[in-house]
Amino acid sequence: GTGLDALIKAKGKKYVGFATDQGEFGNTGITNILKAEGGCVSPENSMKWDATEPSRGSFNFNGADALVNFAQTNGKMIRGHTLLWHNQLPQWVKNIGDKATLTTVIQNHASTVAGRYKGKIYAWDVANEVVADGGGMRSSVFSQVFGDWTFLDVAFKAAKAADPNAKLCLNDYNINFTGAKLNTFVQVVKDLKSRGVPIDCVGTQTHTSVGGSDIPNYKNTLTTLAGTGCEVQITELDIAMSTTTSTSALQQQQRNDYKTIVSACMGTSACSGITLWGVDDANTWITGKHPLLWDENFAKKPAYQGFVDGINS
Ligand code: G3I
Repeated sequence: GTGLDALIKAKGKKYVGFATDQGEFGNTGITNILKAEGGCVSPENSMKWDATEPSRGSFNFNGADALVNFAQTNGKMIRGHTLLWHNQLPQWVKNIGDKATLTTVIQNHASTVAGRYKGKIYAWDVANEVVADGGGMRSSVFSQVFGDWTFLDVAFKAAKAADPNAKLCLNDYNINFTGAKLNTFVQVVKDLKSRGVPIDCVGTQTHTSVGGSDIPNYKNTLTTLAGTGCEVQITELDIAMSTTTSTSALQQQQRNDYKTIVSACMGTSACSGITLWGVDDANTWITGKHPLLWDENFAKKPAYQGFVDGINS
């Protein structure tokens, strides 16, 4: 093939992926691109706690099954996203006040969701966004009830038992910037390893901005993440414009920025794959900021060529 996934595989990486979900499978503009250009899919919302276990012990896999079926029908890998997150978390979980109950609930959730797709998931974002923006532990029901990071031990061990061959990741945003958040993230991963907790990979989401100050330094932050000894994955890449008007200057800068980020992965042996958080600029969580590789009419943007140039760099 000639798509992005074929190009990156020819250079020794594992995949180029896209976030999607059932609601997009009727859009042939999107599915044609997923099939031709992608090697992996991430569920944008369908595997999150509010979707999969809206009330305790009552599971709903409609959206998640549709995503998995799409992937399997089309021969795509899957990144599971996500078993434990403070956002899109049902109120019944937030209301739990004691550690014994919360432990059981995390174990049951992680083992049920990961167990359902055992053998089908390349990597799981076992936990998402557990580090506070200024460093340290993010405030959540998990951190408050446990009082330390060991809610992660519970989640990773349950995921490992449920799907022993899936790579288990810790995922976060803004760790593409140096500073306290990245430092805490790296320390948490090292501490998990030192406690014997099964963690295989780190995910750097990389929701960033055209011309962002993190981008010239991106290879350094990937190297820092690789220093954990884990596989590194770019899990939610998009590069938003500062304005809703997509000028040709911004498009060229965006092209350069995609090249820089993709090139950094290519130059980092621990970096195994790159997932874009959506396909086209009409279907993205960052409405109006033109963050992706295809425009609103599914035409390739200069950013697409930047991605290709990054792979070939
Ligand atoms: O499902 C309901 C629907 O029933 C309701 O009618 C509709 C009305 O607003 O809302 C629907 O839920 C929305 C959901 O997406 C599914 O479409 C939520 O309002 C909306 O907030 C939610 O946004 C998602 C966001 O996570 C929520 O935190 C985005 O699609 C998704 O792209 C985004 O993804 C996150 C990653 O999981 C983690 N990293 C950051 C990234 C971007 O925010």
